[in-house]
Amino acid sequence: MKPSVSRRDRVREMLADLKMPGALEAVDGILAQADSGSVTATEAIEQLLSSQIALRNNRRLVTAMRSSRLPAVKTLAEFDFAFQPSLQREQIESLHELGFVNRAENVILLGPPGVGKTHLAISLAISAAESGRRVYYGTLNDLVSSLEEAKTSGNLVRRLKVLTHPAVLVVDEIGYLPVSRDGAVLFFQLINARHEQASTILTSNKGFEEWGAVLGDEVMAAALIDRLLHHCHIVNIRGNSYRLREHQQLLQRRPEEQRAEAET
Ligand SMILES: Nc1ncnc2c1ncn2[C@@H]1O[C@H](COP(=O)(O)OP(=O)(O)OP(=O)(O)O)[C@@H](O)[C@H]1O
Ligand SMILES: [Mg+2]
Repeated sequence: MKPSVSRRDRVREMLADLKMPGALEAVDGILAQADSGSVTATEAIEQLLSSQIALRNNRRLVTAMRSSRLPAVKTLAEFDFAFQPSLQREQIESLHELGFVNRAENVILLGPPGVGKTHLAISLAISAAESGRRVYYGTLNDLVSSLEEAKTSGNLVRRLKVLTHPAVLVVDEIGYLPVSRDGAVLFFQLINARHEQASTILTSNKGFEEWGAVLGDEVMAAALIDRLLHHCHIVNIRGNSYRLREHQQLLQRRPEEQRAEAET
């Protein structure tokens, strides 16, 4: 018995020395399972390393939530694919493996309100943050405002650099609010700087043919879309709003039925 006890102590010391607190916390439980024969040696090693990776990813996420301005934690695991049958689950899962980030490709999520565009943009950004990549989130209007402010205060070059640096930039809500033409020019500069350098994830409730109106310039919108689509994954969501899921029956009822109910 004794040598095995001291060997365990040695294992704990080594995990502490290697600064693996996640594994250290889990090691006794995992060894107990291994002793009782309920897990194999390979499973025990896998569980030990997974505990450490889970802790590391969590720390990365906490740090990213502070610096990335992500508005919420939304994960792929929380996404209900059954509610959104127009989505190809394999495409979404494979995007979460982050090959597109390594290749500096873009992702554009299109669809009407409430179908999960922001949810999936955030869950992709979170996967990237957990894998150690720098991420940043803003709505189109947030990003344009920050570029305009930087221009006014003579810091445009620095601000463009800051926004070009993250491996993943989420540009949410293209289409709800129009941006000024000057703002659109700054946004074009940003996309130009990121083109083939780093990934941008964009969401929009508008088809590309309407981006000219949003950006106040058809020619610039065309040049922007040209760059974005050059290396791009398009996710078109054609479903119902998840926000309204409890009211679907109400929304699907014929107007005359609703009128009749209102009159009674
Ligand atoms: N399929 C889904 N499974 C689980 N939750 C979902 C799903 N789709 C959307 N949601 C949730 O519903 C809410 C609305 O989704 P989200 O914000 O992603 O919509 P959106 O497409 O960005 O809409 P908008 O165009 O109005 O910004 C969020 O809380 C999101 O987490
Ligand atoms: Mg949204």
